[in-house]
Amino acid sequence: MAFEEPVTRRTFMAVTGAAAAATVLQGSESLAAPGARRRYALVGTGIRGTGMWGKGLLPRYADVLEFVGMCDVNPLRAEAGRKRVGVDCPTYTSIEELLDKARPEVVMVATVDAAHADCIVKALDRGVDVITEKPMVIDEKQLQAVLAAEKRNHKNIVVTFNYRYAPKHQKIKEVLLSGVLGKLASVDFSWYLDTSHGADYFRRWHRLKEKSGSLWVHKATHHFDLVNWWLDADPVEVRAFGELNNYGVKGPFRHTHCRPCPHKAVCPYYMDIMKQPDLVQLYVKTEAADGYLRDGCVFREDINISDTMNAVVKYSSGVNMSYSLNSFMPFEGYRLAINGTKGRLEIRDFERQPFAVAQETEIHLTKNFGRREKIEIPQATGGHGGGDDRLRDLIFRPGTRVPDYLALPGSRAGAMSCLTGIAARQSAESGKPVKIAELATV
Ligand SMILES: NC(=O)c1ccc[n+]([C@@H]2O[C@H](COP(=O)([O-])OP(=O)(O)OC[C@H]3O[C@@H](n4cnc5c(N)ncnc54)[C@H](O)[C@@H]3O)[C@@H](O)[C@H]2O)c1
Repeated sequence: MAFEEPVTRRTFMAVTGAAAAATVLQGSESLAAPGARRRYALVGTGIRGTGMWGKGLLPRYADVLEFVGMCDVNPLRAEAGRKRVGVDCPTYTSIEELLDKARPEVVMVATVDAAHADCIVKALDRGVDVITEKPMVIDEKQLQAVLAAEKRNHKNIVVTFNYRYAPKHQKIKEVLLSGVLGKLASVDFSWYLDTSHGADYFRRWHRLKEKSGSLWVHKATHHFDLVNWWLDADPVEVRAFGELNNYGVKGPFRHTHCRPCPHKAVCPYYMDIMKQPDLVQLYVKTEAADGYLRDGCVFREDINISDTMNAVVKYSSGVNMSYSLNSFMPFEGYRLAINGTKGRLEIRDFERQPFAVAQETEIHLTKNFGRREKIEIPQATGGHGGGDDRLRDLIFRPGTRVPDYLALPGSRAGAMSCLTGIAARQSAESGKPVKIAELATV
């Protein structure tokens, strides 16, 4: 079809993305000899940090990096995390101690969301480059602090938007770059979290907006980043609504967490954490240090985030988006349409559902006054639709060849995606539209 030789081939460049990665990995005051492995540290030794940015790295990148330290505010989890990664580096309970004693060249931030900004600023202020999990920040005050620290220290931040690197999402970008849709006019984007994955946010710290920024920020930052990137535009204004329909106080009964719960026989959300060895090691066996309950009740009354969210976002290019995020659906995936003056691109992504599907992701292009065509997607394996491995290669293997639009996302992308979510959260709370320029200038 028309995209066999997409724009990617024309715009291949050796190092746009890799240049940023190389800068991050080399740092300004390299402690390592030329050609030596980079001194790398992990902050936040939970499931994501020790997986994607821990044990997921060693088999692939042992020749280019070494772990010089790990840190977590929970000392038991720091140690459990070190064991899970399988390295012999020291562990610490504060980022200051880690920076002072381990002297990393690069820090990976994978803490709870609310702590990202503080860790990023502290690392940058010590002249250390930062790779951070999304969301980069959870509010506009944190955003200003991070951007100021990046500027005053002339260091780099990479925000690990792995969704961009899934082949299906790259294919959507290529179709848009081809111009086949004409002038882009609107986006319909509905993301469905199911009763397993969606419920998990309400079990954990994500249920508190002061820790996650709400799902508008924690989860939707992925989706808003994709749209910013696909459209090559910035959000300008957001109007949003958010409701709690299913979890928290809306539940029929509640307890502290699943293990001792008297309702476990009847609760459809009961989770037996003891059947998941990784979670037992990282969370159950480390509870004594911080009291954190990884199998928390999804009906706890302190839940202060929405489970049903709708927004309209206006973009700098004139495109408007209707967006929704629902977190107790019978299936997981999304439905997306991008509408232009010359046609419509439709995507149905099936991640998990109680019915058979022919294909995990279907992309169709229908031209106005024309036919519908199916767009083929390259096969991918691995986490997040194949995005995780491709992102890690780009970060840790400087010189990896990519099209320029796959350059590593930096602080600006991190900021613009968070700002959409922060504006949506504020709009849903205030009942008023929120202009991005009122929150920050990026
Ligand atoms: N890109 C993705 O697809 C993806 C997927 C999952 C998680 N994540 C992100 O990864 C991060 C970690 O998620 P998780 O599921 O592993 O959470 P988690 O709760 O399992 O781990 C977070 C860890 O951070 C520690 N921590 C909190 N504050 C700290 C601080 N100031 N200094 C050091 N450690 C601190 C906690 O004790 C905990 O061990 C989150 O920001 C999340 O948004 C991203």
